Amino acid sequence: MTIKTSHDEGDLLDKLGAFFDSKIQPKMKDIEKLLKKEIELGKLKPENLIDYDPDSSFSYISAFLRDKGVSAVMPSSRFLVDRVLKAMDLGHAPVVVEFGPAEGVMTRRILHSMPEDGVLLAIELNGDFVKSVKRIRDPRLRVVQGDVQDVEKHMARLGLPKADVLVSGIPFSFFDAEGRVRLLDKIDSCLKPAGRFVAYQVTTHLIPLLRRKFRDVDGFLELRNIPPHFVFTAKK
Ligand SMILES: C[S@@+](CC[C@H](N)C(=O)[O-])C[C@H]1O[C@@H](n2cnc3c(N)ncnc32)[C@H](O)[C@@H]1O
Repeated sequence: MTIKTSHDEGDLLDKLGAFFDSKIQPKMKDIEKLLKKEIELGKLKPENLIDYDPDSSFSYISAFLRDKGVSAVMPSSRFLVDRVLKAMDLGHAPVVVEFGPAEGVMTRRILHSMPEDGVLLAIELNGDFVKSVKRIRDPRLRVVQGDVQDVEKHMARLGLPKADVLVSGIPFSFFDAEGRVRLLDKIDSCLKPAGRFVAYQVTTHLIPLLRRKFRDVDGFLELRNIPPHFVFTAKK
């Protein structure tokens, strides 16, 4: 397996610095202001920190502050989305399953790249994100509020055949060792014989498990994301 970095170091640091200054820093200032206001008012509790509003630029961070299952402080960057989309190779993938779409940055791009007669099942636990992703108007999209551990049930209930590609943004670190193996077994059983599983993760602990289960495993480190993510492609 090869782990490649996407840029040489100097170039990368410049780009990360510019990205941080232009995209993150202005938002941090606004978030700081909000926090200060909440502290002054003496009501700094997660449940009334910031109401979830899908149209607000704070929507994702609001969900992150309330729900530890959200795990990443920001949606995937376009660099990570590009990398994941490339790994998914969606040109001939009529049936796709997405774990943890959050607000749908990946979902929109998947729909853009997959066949016109395809179907995309997105499974999300967080109710606010479900409402958000349901606003995507595309007849190929099925959004289910539920746990990815029940993926087989969700697919059966919707009458879906086995998937060509399954992509996951959920942190496997949330599961214990047995839970990870169980979920990978389910993923395997939901995929067609030549299907592929793509996972974007902060850690590398999936590698040995993927190697045990899949014929071919490849990886890539995308640094231009907060936090940097590994993208693993596992082919059956
Ligand atoms: C790191 S975020 C995904 C980011 C998103 N796909 C993106 O590209 O911006 C993980 C998502 O998985 C969802 N999630 C976590 N555990 C889950 C589970 N067991 N079943 C379904 N969704 C889950 C969280 O609510 C969250 O939206």
